[in-house]
Amino acid sequence: MFTLAHVSDVHLGPLPRPHLGQLMSKRLLGYLNWHRGRKELYQRDTLDALIADMRAQAPDHIAVTGDLVNIALPAEFELARDWLQDLGPPDRVTVVPGNHDAYVPVPDAQGLGHWSEYMRGCGDAATATMVGSTRFPFVRRLGPIALIGLSSAIPTAPFMASGALDAAQLGSLPAILSELHEAGRFRVVLIHHPPLPGQTGWRRALRNAPALRDALQRAGAELVLFGHNHMQSLDVLETAHGAAPVVGVPSASTGLSGRHPLARYNLFHIERAGARWSCEMTGRGYRSPDGPVDQIERIQLSS
Ligand SMILES: [Fe+2]
Repeated sequence: MFTLAHVSDVHLGPLPRPHLGQLMSKRLLGYLNWHRGRKELYQRDTLDALIADMRAQAPDHIAVTGDLVNIALPAEFELARDWLQDLGPPDRVTVVPGNHDAYVPVPDAQGLGHWSEYMRGCGDAATATMVGSTRFPFVRRLGPIALIGLSSAIPTAPFMASGALDAAQLGSLPAILSELHEAGRFRVVLIHHPPLPGQTGWRRALRNAPALRDALQRAGAELVLFGHNHMQSLDVLETAHGAAPVVGVPSASTGLSGRHPLARYNLFHIERAGARWSCEMTGRGYRSPDGPVDQIERIQLSS
């Protein structure tokens, strides 16, 4: 049995104080949004108690699907690196970036480069894209499973939160998935944006979701995990190798009841069952803002 934990949209606070020059961009909007409500929405205490509960479940590995920061200040990337180091070493934690992690263009050494150890695979396709010091898609082989990390994080215009996979990632993904299928791995695709067309409005959508869906349908995957919507969702994509559950998880920090559900994470218990895979999902999170963190849902995804 392999247990994979999934958390997303950490939106770490409090926000470091920016220099005036750092706000001469889309960051100004994000900074105002933070002080107009997001700082009350994303609670550090909520996050810390959620993570403590997750640790108590002793997952074999933790996947974090982006939006660790808020307005992509260099100091935020350092805080997020420290948070990741507390969460676990790079061989126990895997990260893919979200749109807030690319809120504005940031030099790799001051931005995503701080997390590169958490976004690194081995034997990745030479045709994959280098984004700073990281190559996407990256593949991590962990016992019976393989994590395939995609980056949909791109800087966008104000009031936009869309994402895109570049042609190289889309081009190399089918061969990577096919090779992992041949090797008998349980394939888990990680992406920040909802991967299927229609899962969110156009301002927040993955621009080439139809192309990703086609690639997944052709080559297959056993599980697809994403964040971004701050909602729990379960869809099923029919692929050439069977049905792939596509699961979105709420933000790990939401501490106020409102438009989005309170903080939650999911655990996926994966094991071989003869010629098939068994995958059961347990969702744990808050039923009320004051807690405690509790089991919300338990559902058999495949068997
Ligand atoms: Fe997002």
